[in-house]
Amino acid sequence: MRQRLVAGNWKMHGSLPGNQTLLEAAAATAGRLREAKCVLCVPFPYLAQVQGALMVTRAAWGAQNVSHHPKGAFTGEVSAAMLREFGCTYVIVGHSERRSLYGEDDSTVSLKAAAVLAEGMRPIVCVGETLSQREAGDTEQVIGNQLEAVMDRIGVQGLRKSVVAYEPVWAIGTGRTASPEQAQAVHAFIRSSVAQQSRETADALPILYGGSVKASNAVGLFEMPDIDGGLIGGASLDAAEFSAICLAADHKTVERA
Ligand code: PGA
Repeated sequence: MRQRLVAGNWKMHGSLPGNQTLLEAAAATAGRLREAKCVLCVPFPYLAQVQGALMVTRAAWGAQNVSHHPKGAFTGEVSAAMLREFGCTYVIVGHSERRSLYGEDDSTVSLKAAAVLAEGMRPIVCVGETLSQREAGDTEQVIGNQLEAVMDRIGVQGLRKSVVAYEPVWAIGTGRTASPEQAQAVHAFIRSSVAQQSRETADALPILYGGSVKASNAVGLFEMPDIDGGLIGGASLDAAEFSAICLAADHKTVERA
């Protein structure tokens, strides 16, 4: 059975006192999950706090970005080995905000995925098309290219330890989510692209949906056969919403089993 997971992406939000509520809720929720995994991807400065709060719980945590260099004169950057020291087990790479605001291209994203794997952590590789690309009928082409760059770099072996997140750019933070059917079509495309190299890897690969997921639309999305959980931005900052989304993913796992 494929691992189901729900990863919260706090983006550039949080404060030391404010995080406490979210961490306590995540710890409690993770303890109630039978199969699904709950992951929090937080800003770098909070990793020590998160590690302290979640260490003895069933929740996992990670970062939202990483340098593809192992070390050196790269002012302002953070290496995969540093993230590992703070107990991270997941790292988001290639989020569309990194791609569009910080100029990360497919090649850089693939190097970052490789750096994460080299430290024994799991990259959450984000792919997704813009609205104009979708309207031009280029969705599969765009996602195929994004995926191929990563697969070429890390190979099927690397993909076996990775997670893919499909996040249509037009659905991120807009309140406009892809319909379960729209998302399922792209998830099936991603899985079949991986299957061309390895059926076994494709069958085992968790593919998350991200883009305006809320407790109210999570169930419909998680019912789809190729949607294995979510990457949650805004709703991960609301303890009750995030907990409900995690539980929705878990119920679907138990139903599928
Ligand atoms: P959103 O963000 O849930 O706020 O749309 C998702 C993401 O960017 O990962």
